Amino acid sequence: MSELVLLDTREGIATLTINRPEVLNALNGDTLEALRQKIAVLDSDPEVRVVILTGAGEKAFVAGADIARMRDLGPLAARDMALLAQAVLNDLERCRKPVIAAVNGYALGGGCELAMACDLRVASESARFGQPEVNLGIIPGWAGTQRLPRLVGKGRALELILTGDMVDAQEAWRIGLVNKVVPHAELLPEARKLALKIAARSQVATRLCKEAVHHGLELDSARAGIFEADLFGLCFSTADQKEGMSAFLEKRKAQFRDA
Ligand code: COA
Repeated sequence: MSELVLLDTREGIATLTINRPEVLNALNGDTLEALRQKIAVLDSDPEVRVVILTGAGEKAFVAGADIARMRDLGPLAARDMALLAQAVLNDLERCRKPVIAAVNGYALGGGCELAMACDLRVASESARFGQPEVNLGIIPGWAGTQRLPRLVGKGRALELILTGDMVDAQEAWRIGLVNKVVPHAELLPEARKLALKIAARSQVATRLCKEAVHHGLELDSARAGIFEADLFGLCFSTADQKEGMSAFLEKRKAQFRDA
């Protein structure tokens, strides 16, 4: 059996590819587990600075949870599946390395939720986004009801969730669901270019930026401000802060040590 999630690492950039193109990369339990294991490996690999996540084949990023596996589930098994998927998406969001979704086609249901758990989204012109769960008699269960409103606002999120309509890549860009739209052939090169740019920054700084945004958004604004100030203060214990500021003042390029 071919691997459910492929991993290729070059120049500090790891590319994860969901690999079930025959079902448009629909996510079943085994694929979620494989993804979880790969994320854990990448998170602790010092060679990996940025992660790109994409789907195999020309048509889909991920067309959602595997409907064939879901149809006959009972309520507790369905709840467990939602909790497992949420945990995997949380692992992705909490991973210390910035994660870029390269959305190469359909990103529907769990696929849209997976893309939203990444830090940035670059989309091919042929990408399509949506939360079509209402068409199946269910609601989004992989935190789509939470991440979508945070990205696009409550009104637009409810429009997508209540209608189940798909939007094309341009519309996804217009509403803030994706950061950039590029021709299909340029998707992976563009995602890689962005990854290499971020990889050239101080890794301790990018890690703390992620924490400040993702964890800070879960706190009330007073606590979030203190949390941000704590992380800001923590930066001043690092060699990279001294190097970054010295390099600026000495008009030279910083040589970060990620420490
Ligand atoms: N779960 C399981 N299988 C899926 C799937 C999913 N989420 N999405 C697609 N597939 C399978 C199809 O059943 C089909 O399998 P088959 O060749 O054995 O019949 C194969 O992938 C190709 O999909 P198909 O529907 O024939 O492609 P299409 O180009 O006509 O349509 C979509 C593409 C994405 C519009 C359509 O597949 C779709 O609506 N998928 C479901 C999306 C969804 O509701 N996701 C949320 C799940 S909670």
